[in-house]
Order: sequence, then structure tokens, then C-alpha cells
Amino acid sequence: MIILGIETSCDETAAAIVSGDKKIRSNVVYSQIEHHAPYGGVVPEIAARAHMDAIDWVIRQAIESANIAFDQLDGVAATCGPGLIGGVLVGAMAGKGIAAALSLPFVAANHLEAHALTVRLTNNIEFPYLLLLVSGGHTQFVKVKGLAKYELIGSTMDDALGEAFDKTAKMLDLGFPGGPAVEKLAKRGSTGRFRLPRPLRGRSGADFSFSGLKTAVRHQIEKFPPGKLSDNDKADLCAEFQQAAVEVIRDRAVNAIEIFRENQRTKGSLVVAGGVAANSAIRRALEETALEHGLPFIAPPVGLCTDNGAMIAWLGIERLRMGLSDGLDFKPRPRWPLNELSR
Ligand code: KG4
Ligand code: ZN
Repeated sequence: MIILGIETSCDETAAAIVSGDKKIRSNVVYSQIEHHAPYGGVVPEIAARAHMDAIDWVIRQAIESANIAFDQLDGVAATCGPGLIGGVLVGAMAGKGIAAALSLPFVAANHLEAHALTVRLTNNIEFPYLLLLVSGGHTQFVKVKGLAKYELIGSTMDDALGEAFDKTAKMLDLGFPGGPAVEKLAKRGSTGRFRLPRPLRGRSGADFSFSGLKTAVRHQIEKFPPGKLSDNDKADLCAEFQQAAVEVIRDRAVNAIEIFRENQRTKGSLVVAGGVAANSAIRRALEETALEHGLPFIAPPVGLCTDNGAMIAWLGIERLRMGLSDGLDFKPRPRWPLNELSR
């Protein structure tokens, strides 16, 4: 089975070819970072236009570098939500157009489900597993029981962790995207100098809250006269922010593992996905927590944790194998929670 996957839900225009034997034949990711950097964040209208300009050549490139022709495809999967609707529409229409022209089955991909299943493309992992999906738009623990069988164990009540990283970076003038910049600076800084909260630490359940942490960062910055924050001050603040995130994730992960294990006979694994999974301090904290609780820890390679077309193509393969496909009248959705997929 050879599937084309298309992803356009945020600021990456991406297309990939994946085959049923788990081979990624091509994986083209066009990042729009330069379009959005001047604004310090993703601008939906600019993203939609940039997707429209890039989509044709990104798909063509995916086909060419996989060394196949369009008529060798067995199906098309395109992200149909959740995400910035202008971009989602561009990818969904491109995917539907190709499926219609070639009379191929179409899979309306849920972006979160694709993140959740990526680890089955990169590793031989059985259901169930505990997933932490942590990105710019989402921070949630999910029990992945099977294809289209998801149980939400905990999620953020306000900001996503990636968003908190991005906003911290913006307040410190570190540029966009913020996560990698904060991580880099944190390596040079020391913890303990600034006081920041660890929201929800010690509470029951596995929910998150990051807006208070973000506000606390702003209060610390406001203690300095405008423009008087040195590189060292910034580095120490980044180190403390990242440490707060790490401690919160550890605390919440312990509770999530406990909830995951209720009424559960097989051992399972802890899996992380989403852009923030690129952060090595957070990866390490999750790995240690998993090992302390006797769970294997699995993180897909960083390039497959951030948004890409291969994860969408793989979701297409998983769904088509189960005989699941969607009509070309499927309506793209800005909001589409994972639990709405569950059968
Ligand atoms: O999954 P993703 O590519 O896009 C979605 O949000 O769906 O995740 C992007 C997010 C951004 O908020 C970015 O700042 C964050 O992931 N991120 C990081 C790191 N690399 C990317 N956050 C912390 N540390 C990093 N190294
Ligand atoms: Zn994503």
C-alpha cells in the first residue's frame, strides 16, 4: 500500500509518501517560519496564503523524491482538522482533488490522531500505550487503546506548553519559534535565582495549567527597567521556566501512569509526541519517570514529533487497513478533539 499524506494545519506545508511496510519513501516539509517570524507568532491569514503558494510543489516534490508516479498511489490522507481552518482547507482540498482525479480512497485525517499513532510507524509498539501529546496547540495525556479508541486522561485547562514556551520567548525577545530558543538559552542559565510557580503540582489528576506560569514570567521581567534584562538574566529566567515545566510534567506523568494502569492488564509504554517533545530536558524527565515506574519510554525521532506529512500518510495506512475511509464531502474542522473519534 502506497499512501500520500498531506499536512497543512499550522505553519508547515508538508507532504510525504509512506508504504505499508513502514518505509517513509519521501517526507517534504516546507516551514513557513520566515513568513511569521516578524510577527512573533503564526498569523492564520498569512499561513493560509503561504500554504496555497506551496502546496502544489510540496506534493509534486514528495511524489518525485519517492520515485513514484501519481497512478501508483493507493490512497490519499489529508489533515482535515483540528487546526487553523484556512490552512486545513488548502490541504484538504488538494488531497480531495487528487483522490477524485485518480478515484482513490480518501482519509480525512485528524491531526492529533496522526501524532498519536506516529510511534507505530517508527517502532513496533502494541496497543495500549500512554501518550503525552505536547505541542504548540495541545498538552494532553491520552490512553491509546486502539485505532479510534482514545481515552483522555488529562489535558491543559488553559495554554498549551509549547504556547507557554513561545510566549516566554516572545517576552524575552528571543524570536520565533520560541521553544528551541528557550531551550538553548536555558542551557547557559542557572535555576533557583528567579521564583516561578509549578502549577497543579501535588494535586490529584493529570491536568495541566500553564497560563499562571507565563504570567509569573512576565512579572519577573517587569521587575527590571525596560531593556535592562541582560543575557545572563534571560538565561537564568529560561532555565527556571524550563525547570518549572519539567517538574510539572514529572508530577503529572506520575498521576497519569497511575490512571493509565487502572483496570489494565498489559504493561504498556509511555510515548511522547508533538513539537515540545524535541526538548531534551523534557524528554529526559519523561524517560526517568517512565523507568521509575517500570514502563518503557518511546519518543519518535524529533523530525517526526513536529508536524509532517509522514504521520498523516501513516494514519491513512492504519485507517485504510481497517476499512475506514471518508467521503469527499467531509467538512474540515477547526476543532476536533480526539475523543470525538472514539467508536
Ligand atoms: O507539533 P508542533 O510542530 O506544532 C503544533 O503545535 O501542532 O509543535 C510546535 C511547538 C511550538 O510551540 C514550539 O515552540 C515547540 O513545539 N517546540 C519546543 C521545542 N521545539 C519546538 N518547545 C520546547 N523546546 C523545544 N526544543
Ligand atoms: Zn502538531
